[in-house]
Amino acid sequence: MSLGAVPPAAPVLSFPEPHVLRTARLQLRPMQPADAGALHAILTDPEVLRYWDTPAWPDVAHARDFIVDEQRALVEGESITLGIYEGDPPRLIGECLLFAVDWQAGRAELGFALAPGAWGHGYLQEAAGALLGYGFDRLHLRRIEAEIDAGNEAAARALERLGFRREGLLRERWSVNGRISDAAFYGLLAREWSAGAAGRR
Ligand SMILES: CC(C)(COP(=O)(O)OP(=O)(O)OC[C@H]1O[C@@H](n2cnc3c(N)ncnc32)[C@H](O)[C@@H]1OP(=O)(O)O)[C@@H](O)C(=O)NCCC(=O)NCCS
Repeated sequence: MSLGAVPPAAPVLSFPEPHVLRTARLQLRPMQPADAGALHAILTDPEVLRYWDTPAWPDVAHARDFIVDEQRALVEGESITLGIYEGDPPRLIGECLLFAVDWQAGRAELGFALAPGAWGHGYLQEAAGALLGYGFDRLHLRRIEAEIDAGNEAAARALERLGFRREGLLRERWSVNGRISDAAFYGLLAREWSAGAAGRR
């Protein structure tokens, strides 16, 4: 009998349930096609797109396709995209996601956007805090990173409040509608997240 090579320990390859995360003021959950209109409105708002790395979505059908594709990506272990809902009845105020997941390396990238009317209330701290907790505690990721336009001061402040460290600058990385921009890279390690747990309680 050939012993052969010992296979490496299998990494987590899927997103364990529950996919609904609750915070003091918010609920995060996978979006449904009925959310397409609200999501399209957020992701075509010029204030939201000011530092975005893709052009505005052309129509609501594009948002619906995105939502359906993210449902597939969740099932297939590629990414987890959650709508952020506030109020009663719940209203979609944004989205946050873990994408570019590398299960073997134990890392993923965080993305986020809120409707401008929801800025300045600490909602991203709550929403991204819950998703980061899911990423570190349930997915056992070792590192979560984020890439933002170097001029995006609100996003930089939000990431630093969440405990991210700025790790580098990639010059002239993006070209969107003729605007060339530098990208700032941020990283947060599981051990730093755990060390900050006392301050978040
Ligand atoms: C990035 C973005 C989500 C930040 O929104 P935000 O509301 O500033 O995020 P936070 O949850 O961190 O809120 C912190 C702000 O709320 C205020 N705040 C009010 N109540 C608060 C509370 N209970 N807890 C924490 N902060 C509170 C803080 O003082 C802070 O304001 P300041 O930055 O003027 O000091 C928002 O600007 C956005 O959606 N931009 C467009 C999309 C984008 O650029 N995404 C990044 C690329 S992936």
